[in-house]
Amino acid sequence: MSSAIRGVIAGTGGYLPARSVSNDELAVEKNLDTTDAWIVERTGIRRRHFAAEGETASSMGAAACRAALAQAGASAADVDAVIVATATPDSAFPSTAARIQGALGVTRGFAFDLSAACTGFIYALSVADAMIRIGQARGVLVVGAEVYSRILDWSDRGTCVLFGDGAGAVFLRAEPGSARGLLSTHLHSDGRHGDILQVDGGAGSTGGTGVVRMAGREVFKHAVTKLASAVDEALAANGLGHDDVAWLVPHQANIRIIEAMGRKLHLGLDRVVVTVDRHANTSAASIPLALAEATRDGRIKPGELVLMEAIGGGLTWGAALARF
Ligand code: UT7
Repeated sequence: MSSAIRGVIAGTGGYLPARSVSNDELAVEKNLDTTDAWIVERTGIRRRHFAAEGETASSMGAAACRAALAQAGASAADVDAVIVATATPDSAFPSTAARIQGALGVTRGFAFDLSAACTGFIYALSVADAMIRIGQARGVLVVGAEVYSRILDWSDRGTCVLFGDGAGAVFLRAEPGSARGLLSTHLHSDGRHGDILQVDGGAGSTGGTGVVRMAGREVFKHAVTKLASAVDEALAANGLGHDDVAWLVPHQANIRIIEAMGRKLHLGLDRVVVTVDRHANTSAASIPLALAEATRDGRIKPGELVLMEAIGGGLTWGAALARF
């Protein structure tokens, strides 16, 4: 057995705001020219959760972290880093990660946010994995937390029906010589395509938050080809084939993209963790929320190989392979 240190996913946790809104309810509430049938057929989305007043990326992220620590049998004393992927931080600073660190009562180590839109959780996993491998951290909370309901243009039916709020977290624990844990992560970005999926403002430009703008069809085309190559890259890097993968846990933007990736891996939808129908697109939170659901209900079992992939604004995209 190798003595290399691996980051083992020791616990997962998710938090969804109490309020769940159906497509029909959203259409009435926001006076949208849309139908449940259009949204379901094009995206697979049926419902989404929206944060209540006062709920933020840090409050939801802290709740997800508490659940992840509890599942891992760990406490604040075991945490020496908090890394939060978010496009909707509570404020420019303190970072959402530092706020979560404070809320959890973690008194040592470090905390920071990372920005890679819907690919943020894969990026955060990658950074955490590298820090664990070099011995810089032993217990890392990796979080995706988003309140997109606060950066949507409610007059743009092409985007506002697609997103929801929530947070997910995993607790990574350094284990020397483990066969479990993160095997590899694969990150990509291509800033030339930044304009096809963007927030059109920010603290350092307009002074406001801006709203999500997306050329959906363009993003869709990039998604199918770039995710397929990231999946190939992750398998090849580990000398594995699609038969070795027990579960696909994809970013949840569109059921048609998810199904295409399942087909590529020869996995039926019974081997793909799908939440997009109930959560919509929660950006950086979607993969850890799906992991939390599928580890808690017993679908993902210890020893199984899980492939994660995501694409989002930047453009950013990537994949990660982990043995649970
Ligand atoms: O999370 C980051 C990654 N994001 C993604 O992966 C998203 C990728 N893209 C997509 O999922 C799809 O492109 C969408 C779901 C966003 C859109 O589906 P589409 O099949 O590409 O539709 P479209 O944007 O080409 O629009 C088709 C028609 C248009 O009408 P016309 O021009 O054909 O008359 C739109 O105006 O559908 C219309 N439309 C709607 N109709 C009813 C757009 N939004 C709506 C709506 N309800 N909510």
